[in-house]
Amino acid sequence: MNISLTGKRALVCGASKGIGKASAYALSSLGASVTLVARSAEELASISADLDSQRVAPGQDHDFLVLDLNDPDDISRKIKPLATERTYHILVNNSGGPASGPILQAQPNQFVDAYQQHVLASHLLVQLLSPGMIHSGYGRIINIISTSVRAPLDGLGVSNTTRGAMASWAKSMANELAPHGITVNNVLPGFTDTERLRSLVQVWATEKNVSTDQQAQAMAATVPMGRFGTPEEIANAVAFLASPAAAYITGTSILVDGGRTRGI
Ligand SMILES: NC(=O)c1ccc[n+]([C@@H]2O[C@H](COP(=O)([O-])OP(=O)(O)OC[C@H]3O[C@@H](n4cnc5c(N)ncnc54)[C@H](OP(=O)(O)O)[C@@H]3O)[C@@H](O)[C@H]2O)c1
Repeated sequence: MNISLTGKRALVCGASKGIGKASAYALSSLGASVTLVARSAEELASISADLDSQRVAPGQDHDFLVLDLNDPDDISRKIKPLATERTYHILVNNSGGPASGPILQAQPNQFVDAYQQHVLASHLLVQLLSPGMIHSGYGRIINIISTSVRAPLDGLGVSNTTRGAMASWAKSMANELAPHGITVNNVLPGFTDTERLRSLVQVWATEKNVSTDQQAQAMAATVPMGRFGTPEEIANAVAFLASPAAAYITGTSILVDGGRTRGI
């Protein structure tokens, strides 16, 4: 099975921490050159240097780009020149999750922001990077969404709404890019031990007046595997979907949730 990414270049969004960072390491470990994207320059510089120290393939060359995915002008201004300079074969669309809270109390601007940061940012990136993928004959687009695509989660109304839109956008894009051999797939993480999850645990523990440990244990108990996932376990699915071996998988959503989603 060919899972080598030697000679491939990846743009990984939300790569300063959590699932995006782990995805950058996973892709790099298979030989890809990675451009890390997020807003925190210091973190990105340190990860990029660390990746450079762990090169596994000749010509591997990592760098980073400070970019606000909530700003379409910033995306166009910074990605356009990059896309003319080099070919990106792999794009990981990933960003911070929308704020939690009851949907009835959500403000219109929360929906607009989340839509912009997830759907529109991904759309712009695909518009800018897909011509290079088509020209090179290799393209893998992987979107980090959420299990809420299958079963909306309580207390995450804005997120649930945005994730549904993102999954529909991805399926439409998958069908249009399939004739070029470019795949578009979604990874749906369950509870994954990252800063995002820790902040949600904190919010929900406060709401229920329990300790964060009690809240985390109650959540883990809903997972058949009895534990949260690690960012690396999500990243392994991302790396496989990015590989040559995954060429005939497109337009699909893959749950990586320890069995938590009960549907089949
Ligand atoms: N962890 C879970 O249990 C879980 C479960 C299901 C779905 N998810 C979803 O998976 C995605 C990643 O989750 P995670 O847990 O890895 O989150 P995380 O630890 O909060 O990391 C989010 C990443 O996105 C970047 N980011 C946030 N806003 C950005 C912006 N406006 N522009 C550019 N980069 C931005 C952050 O970097 P900077 O702050 O440096 O910009 C960071 O690198 C999120 O959409 C999350 O909701 C997570």
